[in-house]
Amino acid sequence: FTGAAQWVPHDGGMRKVTATLPDCRGCDLYEYADQVVPGEGRVRARMMLIGEQPGDVEDKEGHVFVGPAGRLLDKALVEAGIERSEVFLTNAVKHFRFERQGKRRIHKTPSAGQIVACRPWLDRELEIVKPGLVVILGAVAARALLGPGFKVTEHRGRSVELPDGRAALATVHPSAVVRSQEYRRDFARFVDDLRAARELLP
Ligand code: URA
Ligand code: SF4
Repeated sequence: FTGAAQWVPHDGGMRKVTATLPDCRGCDLYEYADQVVPGEGRVRARMMLIGEQPGDVEDKEGHVFVGPAGRLLDKALVEAGIERSEVFLTNAVKHFRFERQGKRRIHKTPSAGQIVACRPWLDRELEIVKPGLVVILGAVAARALLGPGFKVTEHRGRSVELPDGRAALATVHPSAVVRSQEYRRDFARFVDDLRAARELLP
């Protein structure tokens, strides 16, 4: 596997990206997942939020952030005063990676190689959407965009610049809040970070 570049269209818009994604054989993940999950939302959004990879529910339904993490994200966006319909939502990796435990499929973090392999899709989405602000949700998206040295917990809620000069802000992944032992505190902090992102919008 040599990465997604040869499948990513150089012309056309988001419809073409969505239409060509199912052909991708850029890494091994397409073999196990039910389907690829494309980014969704407003194509000319000012804000693009980037998660990790589809979860179990997203893989079955074919849409981003429709499972437990998505419900939490929806709630947090409302509290932060951000309309889901106004943003573009996508993932660093477009196929679900999991381990089977009996009948259950347990999320497995994508490898560094899979994150790099999928990056050309993310680059194309960024080229098309041209967001004024990128919101990085969690360590995998941070790794994809800022490299392995960036620590979300150290820099969360503050503006950072991507290597290509784009403005960004990193926060935790909503699934980390779903699982938190200190849910109320961590949900409030997540909302604070999203509010800070809204204030950074150009
Ligand atoms: N987690 C993600 O990072 N993305 C989704 O689409 C769902 C859960
Ligand atoms: Fe292609 Fe990304 Fe799916 Fe790998 S995870 S097959 S690179 S779309």
